[in-house]
Amino acid sequence: MKILILDDEAAAIAKAAEILENQISQKPASVLGLATGGTMVPLYDCLRKSHAKGDVSFASVVTFNLDEYVGLAPEHAGSYHTYMRVALFDHIDIDVSNVHLPVGNAADPVAESARFEALISASGGIDLQLLGLGQNGHIGFNEPTSSLSSPTRVKTLTQSTRDANRQYFDETEDVPRYAITMGIGTILRSKACLMLATGPNKAKAVAKMVEGPVMASCPASVLQMHAKVTVVLDQAASKDLQLTDYYHHVHPRGAGSEFD
Ligand code: F6R
Repeated sequence: MKILILDDEAAAIAKAAEILENQISQKPASVLGLATGGTMVPLYDCLRKSHAKGDVSFASVVTFNLDEYVGLAPEHAGSYHTYMRVALFDHIDIDVSNVHLPVGNAADPVAESARFEALISASGGIDLQLLGLGQNGHIGFNEPTSSLSSPTRVKTLTQSTRDANRQYFDETEDVPRYAITMGIGTILRSKACLMLATGPNKAKAVAKMVEGPVMASCPASVLQMHAKVTVVLDQAASKDLQLTDYYHHVHPRGAGSEFD
C-alpha cells in the first residue's frame, strides 16, 4: 500500500484529485469506479473546478458507482444517482450513457446486482476505483463480516451505517435498510484503488485497514491483498497509525518516491 499523509483535508483532496486527473490524462477512456458520501463532496468539487478551467475532460470516461440504496428510484433526493448528478455529473462533459449506478428500485435487486457485475466485466474492468472508508471499516457497503471475495449483491446495512446516513433523509425510518453494492471481490478486481479518508472519525478504521490483520471484521483491510492501492489521508485520519515515520520518509507530504 502506498500511504500518502497530507497536512490537512484540503491538501488530501487536492492529492486525490491529482491522481484521478492523471489517470484520465494518461487514458482518456478510463473506466473509473466512483464512491459517494461526505468525504467525496469536496473531491468532486475540486474535479468540477479543474474541468471548468479546462484541465480535465470526462468526455470519454466511463463510470461505475460502488453502490445504491435498495428501494430508491434514481430521481429520489436521497439516492446516489441524485448525489452524483448534483455533486459531479451535471457539471462536467461526461456522456450520460457512460454513467452506471445500480438501479435501486429495480423490480429484482438480485438480478440487478448480477447485471451490474456483468456490465463492469463487459467494460473491460475498472482502471481506478475510488473508495471511501466507513467508520466500521466498510468499503462500498460491504459491512463487517462480508465475504472477502463477494460479487455485487444486496447487503443489509448495519445500524451504524444507517445512523451515519440519517442526515440525508427526512425521517429515521426513511433511511434504507439494504443496498446493492459492488462486492469485495469486485473491488479487488479493479486494476488500481484510491482510498480517501479524512478527519479524526476515520483514524481507528484507517489503522486497522493499513496495519491490522486482514479480516472480514474490517473489510477495508483486504486492500492489503491488492497490488496497487494508494491511500490518501489527512493528519487527523492518520493519527492512530504506528508507522507514520516510515510513510513520511517514503512519501514526504504525499510526494512521489523515486520508484513510483
Ligand atoms: C459510498 C460508499 C461508502 C462511503 C463510506 C464513507 O458510496 O461506498 O463506503 O465511502 O461510508 O462515507 P463518508 O464519506 O460519508 O464518511
